[in-house]
Amino acid sequence: MRDATAVDTLATADAMQPKSSDAARITRPDLGLAARRELDELARQRLLREPRTLSAAGPRAEIEGRECLILASNDYLGLSTHSAVVSAAADAAGRYGAGAGASRLVSGSLPIHEELEAEIAGLKGTEAAIVFSSGYAANLGLIPALLARGDVAVCDKLNHASLIDACRLSGARLRVYGHGDTTRLESILRAEASAGRLVVVTDGVFSMDGDVAPLPDVLTIAQAYGAWVVVDDAHGTGTLGRTGVGTVEHFGLDAAAFINMSTLSKAFGSQGGFVTGSTELIALLRNRARSFVYSTGLAPASAAAALAAIRLAREQPEIRQRLWRNVRLLRQRIAPAGLLPVSTDSQITSLIIGGVEQALAFADELLRAGVFAPAIRPPTVPRGTSRVRISVTAAHTREDVEEAAAAICEAAESIKS
Ligand SMILES: Cc1ncc(COP(=O)(O)O)c(C=O)c1O
Repeated sequence: MRDATAVDTLATADAMQPKSSDAARITRPDLGLAARRELDELARQRLLREPRTLSAAGPRAEIEGRECLILASNDYLGLSTHSAVVSAAADAAGRYGAGAGASRLVSGSLPIHEELEAEIAGLKGTEAAIVFSSGYAANLGLIPALLARGDVAVCDKLNHASLIDACRLSGARLRVYGHGDTTRLESILRAEASAGRLVVVTDGVFSMDGDVAPLPDVLTIAQAYGAWVVVDDAHGTGTLGRTGVGTVEHFGLDAAAFINMSTLSKAFGSQGGFVTGSTELIALLRNRARSFVYSTGLAPASAAAALAAIRLAREQPEIRQRLWRNVRLLRQRIAPAGLLPVSTDSQITSLIIGGVEQALAFADELLRAGVFAPAIRPPTVPRGTSRVRISVTAAHTREDVEEAAAAICEAAESIKS
């Protein structure tokens, strides 16, 4: 005889079976087919993306069996392949293992995490820092820890996707001002003055245009309305400012006036993200940032690589100077062909081409000449502003930059005809 629990379970299971009349109506969509349709639609719009395979990191690599100059990486200081950085990563993996094991709140921090956080706080001139497994995770942890339903996040229109996602996740109301439009920012803050918490959220350097946010004005306006300011300095850290600290230093502002977020994956050539600020803010994030609390700590090799890279960048300003020499040379060489970047504020050289087809043709032409620079299309950038985004780094030689510039000028000529 079946016991009562088993009978109940069977009865419940039976009740959950669709009746034959329901079964005729309920059809489960074929996932493969649904995915295929979406992919076909992306392909039809020429928006389908597939990463290329490169044989190596660094300024040159093979793509499809051919050696190419790489102008696609955010490894701005060329530190991802620096021998001191690579050996720091190898030593840390040897000493601590390949992974951190669990969330640091569960299995504990490693000394390398603490050393890295102290170094980052020193770099940014703040009391404390916290590292996450990526910059994306840092934003997803930070913003929902600051904001909730009833609060308002005020974002620049061109903010990075991770900031937009983080604001949406927080449940706060999202208000958007036109790119760099501080008049509109002020009118939004005035209208939202009675909201709970008010936070202005902006990139320091905008990743696809390469321009710098008007931080002094943003800060003045935010302070007038009692709003905090979050700056995502993923592309300014290590490259901008008198000593390479980033956009806040570039403007001579006080780090303590901002909530600073950045990444270890660009100028510092490693992996991971971070937030810097007061001791209290960082302690709060250790408790409230879900991407920190519920995610395995940064891999020891990544932490050690980032630490070595930050130290190198601080001790050897000539690395940053080499980056800027290369950036200036490239721009000088392509200007006579009428190729003017969207902005010259930062190291990012973004050439707007316009249509998706033309931007792809430009990038294909470059690749045929042995130069890899990606075409950036919607939804990453607004429709009609597809572009080629060019990143020379400190690891490129003068000859590399000359070769790249010649190929860019030729590609521009060939897509005209
Ligand atoms: C402005 C900005 N914020 C955050 C991120 C995310 O950083 P990560 O690549 O370390 O996840 C990026 C990376 O593309 C970025 O450009």
